[in-house]
Amino acid sequence: MKEIKIESTLYVFEGLNELPQDVIKLIQKATEAREKAYAPYSNFSVGAAILLDNSKIITGNNQENASYPSGLCAERTAIYYVGAKYPDVKIIRMAIVAGSKKNKTSSPIPPCGACRQAIAEYEVKQNTPIEIYFMGETGKVAKSNSLANLLPLGFDKSML
Ligand code: THU
Repeated sequence: MKEIKIESTLYVFEGLNELPQDVIKLIQKATEAREKAYAPYSNFSVGAAILLDNSKIITGNNQENASYPSGLCAERTAIYYVGAKYPDVKIIRMAIVAGSKKNKTSSPIPPCGACRQAIAEYEVKQNTPIEIYFMGETGKVAKSNSLANLLPLGFDKSML
């Protein structure tokens, strides 16, 4: 038996002021998208913005449903649109802004497991890392240089 340790690196910024202008812009787009989220059941709104290699920014937000499991997270709403509309364009980075309508969320909210798996699919497909920035409504911003850092031991097409 041997023990295997898995390490991941995250960078945490104290606030938007520590980030470059293009990243701030992407986070602002995610924030705008979040404002249009359809989340009447959870009251938890999420916005995602994706920067493509052709300089376009694609946004998405969570879309809930009276039949709860039929809803979809913001990250997948956005990334599946990218997959459908720009299948040959690389994804540079994604910004995610999330928070409850009931109380102001001031710590970074990471993407859920299903969204990590979905983003991983595109990272493997394009064979270059996708940067992920995530935050709450205010406060610190976390950054991962690659989705793979957020999903150790990921399952991908090489295993099929
Ligand atoms: N949600 C997202 O949009 N992204 C995530 O990564 C986590 C959760 C949404 C799904 C649901 O509409 C609400 O947040 C509460 O779970």
